[in-house]
Amino acid sequence: MKNKILVAPSLLAADPLHFGRDLKEAEDLGADWHHFDVMDGHFVPNLTYGIPLVKALKAKSSIPLDVHIMVNNPDQVALDYVAAGADYLVFPIETVIHSHRLIHAIKEKGAKAGAAINPGTPLHSLEAILPYLDLINVMSVNPGFGGQKFIPESLTRIRQLKAMLKDLKRDKACLIEVDGGVNAETAASIVEAGADVLVAGTFFYGAKDKVAALNTLRGIG
Ligand code: DX5
Ligand code: ZN
Repeated sequence: MKNKILVAPSLLAADPLHFGRDLKEAEDLGADWHHFDVMDGHFVPNLTYGIPLVKALKAKSSIPLDVHIMVNNPDQVALDYVAAGADYLVFPIETVIHSHRLIHAIKEKGAKAGAAINPGTPLHSLEAILPYLDLINVMSVNPGFGGQKFIPESLTRIRQLKAMLKDLKRDKACLIEVDGGVNAETAASIVEAGADVLVAGTFFYGAKDKVAALNTLRGIG
C-alpha cells in the first residue's frame, strides 16, 4: 500500500506579521505538518528566523513541526532547535560534519532526523547514513527563497533515492520530502516519482482556497 501523502505548508510564504494566525489556519484547514525554513544568511543568501520563533510557534501548534535548517553550522545548532520543539530536524548534508553523530543525538532527544540535499549534490553523499535517517528532503530548487521554479531533473533524483531506500528495505521507514516549486503543475509527477511529503509555500499560502490547494497536492478532486 502507498503511504498517505503528507502536506507541509512552509511558513516562509505566510504573513510575517501574522505567523501565529496563519499557522493556526493552516492546521485548522488540514495541513499535516508545518515546515519552518531557518536560514542563516551564509549557507543561503537569505536570513529568516531562529530558535525563539520556533519555540513560540510550537506552543501554538498541534501538528508536527518540520524544521529545515539551512545553516553553515548544523552540528552546533541542531539540538537547540530540537529543544525548541522541532519534531523533525532536517540539516543540510553539505555543511554537516558529523552526520552520523548528529542523527543519533537528534534521535536521543526524541526527534526524527532528516537530511536535506541540494540540487547539485550527488545522491551518494547520503549513502552511508541511509540506514539511520527518518527523512530526506530533496531540494527541488536552490535553497534560499520561496516562489522559485521546480527543477525538473529532481524527479530522477527522487526515483533514484526511492530505489536506494527500497534496496535497504527502508522506503517505508524513511520519508522522501520534496521542497521547492511544488504546485498544481508539479505535484502529481513528484508523487508519482516517489515523494511522501510535499512542502508547499507559495502554492499553499498564496491560494485563495487553501482547502482546494491541499486537495490538489494530495491528488484529490
Ligand atoms: C527554500 C525553502 C522552501 C520554500 C519553498 O529554500 O527550503 O521550503 O519555502 O517555497 P515554495 O513552495 O514557494 O517554492
Ligand atoms: Zn524548506
